[in-house]
Amino acid sequence: MKMPCNSVGLTTTEAAFIEQARNNGELYIAQPYQLYSEDNHAAWKSLFGRMRPQWERFANEHFMKGIESLCLDPNRIPKLDDVNQFLNPLTGFKAKAVSGYVPAYLFFDCLSNREFPTTITIRRHDKLDYLPEPDIFHDIAGHVPMHTDKAFADTLVRFGELAKLAVEIGSEIKDEDEKLHRLNSIIKSLARFFWFTIEFGLMKGKDGMKVYGSGLLSSFGEIQYSIESPLVQRYPLQLEWVINQYFEIDHYQPLLFWVESFDHLFSLVTELEQWMKDGKLNNVSPGEPLVNEEDLRSFLAVEGA
Ligand SMILES: [Fe+2]
Repeated sequence: MKMPCNSVGLTTTEAAFIEQARNNGELYIAQPYQLYSEDNHAAWKSLFGRMRPQWERFANEHFMKGIESLCLDPNRIPKLDDVNQFLNPLTGFKAKAVSGYVPAYLFFDCLSNREFPTTITIRRHDKLDYLPEPDIFHDIAGHVPMHTDKAFADTLVRFGELAKLAVEIGSEIKDEDEKLHRLNSIIKSLARFFWFTIEFGLMKGKDGMKVYGSGLLSSFGEIQYSIESPLVQRYPLQLEWVINQYFEIDHYQPLLFWVESFDHLFSLVTELEQWMKDGKLNNVSPGEPLVNEEDLRSFLAVEGA
């Protein structure tokens, strides 16, 4: 097979390999490790090196254990196969390389199968702070260490399973407009819950307030801001608030929610499931995130299958 040019390696938005895979309709891909440039590895080294002291101060203990368990090399981008050799025996999870955006249903379905869709590109070395989309540092250094924790992993699986319930609920509605309205509202609720927990969650425990959300764990500036800034409001997680709360992705979060433990988080997912069954997610407040066509279609496609 002819390999694309390696001049820009696997840099986010610049990688010919990724563009080619997407053009071919390939969502799940291999990680072509030889394509990473030295500049890509240097970006990983810089990101990892500057985050470590931040993690030691602000990350929750389960994350720190996860970083140790995965034996990530601080100097080189990890091979997903190596990460999975350490991860899989612990919780059954594995990182699965993807070529880009994964439509909502497929993303949730992967979680329920203990697979984590993982971006393989990395941000530019000269733009470490500017990141409009996920990259391998966010996914492998921010998310995957959490998947080594059994209680967290089980919560993620339970959350992923909610997508199937949403399809079941949608399939019972005959009126097409009503079906789209409800699915749109349910997907929005799930996206908001995911955002305020898995991506930006805080945990209040014996060590005080710590971070477990991966968006914070992979952000050099925001991890400290989330814990120390007086401009951030921090509240105990309330389901009715979170599912109705819009968020914006292009600035530091002014509003964060904390849980007491992953057992607590698991119980909130169970409650979310019951709320979905009771119709409490059918009319959440409008606003961000907008549910795109691709996300909606990914749910409808399962129903129609
Ligand atoms: Fe993420």
